[in-house]
Amino acid sequence: MSFPIQRPRRLRRSEGLRSLVRETPLEADDFIYPMFVCPGKNVRKEVGSMPGVFQQSVDRFLEECREVEQLGIAGIILFGLPSKKDERGSEAWAAEAPVQRAVAAVKKAKLDLVVLTDVCLCEYTSHGHCGVVENGEVLNDPTLDLLAQAALSHARAGADVVAPSDMMDGRVGAIRRALDANGFADVSILAYSAKYCSAFYGPFREAAESAPQFGDRRAYQMDPANAREALREVRLDLEEGADMVMVKPALPYLDVLRAVRRAVSVPVAAYNVSGEYSMVKAAARNGWMDERRAAMEILTSIRRAGADFILTYHAKDAARWMGGG
Ligand code: PBG
Repeated sequence: MSFPIQRPRRLRRSEGLRSLVRETPLEADDFIYPMFVCPGKNVRKEVGSMPGVFQQSVDRFLEECREVEQLGIAGIILFGLPSKKDERGSEAWAAEAPVQRAVAAVKKAKLDLVVLTDVCLCEYTSHGHCGVVENGEVLNDPTLDLLAQAALSHARAGADVVAPSDMMDGRVGAIRRALDANGFADVSILAYSAKYCSAFYGPFREAAESAPQFGDRRAYQMDPANAREALREVRLDLEEGADMVMVKPALPYLDVLRAVRRAVSVPVAAYNVSGEYSMVKAAARNGWMDERRAAMEILTSIRRAGADFILTYHAKDAARWMGGG
């Protein structure tokens, strides 16, 4: 039986019908909003490559958190700019550094936001790499303890979820052990499991001031050509104790996202990264694309591919477009 009996257009005739049969829901509480905190007071500086995204001091950050909460967004993920960088990235685990103070401030304000922290060294090291460097090489094992210390300092500040993004082998296990040994068995781990070596992190490196000072991240982040390897990374992270896993970036890796969704039963996140956001913003500013339609289509595609939730710089705009706040 086919045309003229079958007419798929019958179910597209009105918004009521379309919404009744829509397969992929998109809600503000599927979003995590990434934020950048820096030292100082009353600082709010827009990131040139990411319109609408700011580096801000903890006081101004807290104001924006209230807005994020009002919009019904599920939570935030925090990145920090240290007051000084060194070889080992020691401000990554300093109790009074911007991220730790920001976490404590949101918790003290009792905002209804899940607080995630990105665990990595690249924002804190003078060389901009995600681990300890010796003779031009990023060393795996000596980095693990530093990452565990950073995660622990976030847990002490009150983080609900720590999210290691460095791509060292064994970091999830090292972090889990450190948390458990210090009374933080309830803090969960969202592992950036399938994190690819991507050009789409370009704008973020301006926001987080974390561009590598030599070389690139190919020796630890994944090769964009590999999909099966993503499943291996995911499996290993789950064995080490990850509670949730992530695929990053999102758009160029929707196939990987779908494969991971099929392979595991834990929640799967996707990071709609800086470059994906900035492309939409730039095209919209040039009048080449409708920002709202493009962003909503992208976010829907990421959910449709299998993400349970999305880390996205579009979160506030999307929540507003969907009628929140
Ligand atoms: C830190 C980290 C990066 C991102 C999240 N955590 C940058 C990188 O790996 O270079 C990228 C996020 C984005 O582009 O929005 N390692």
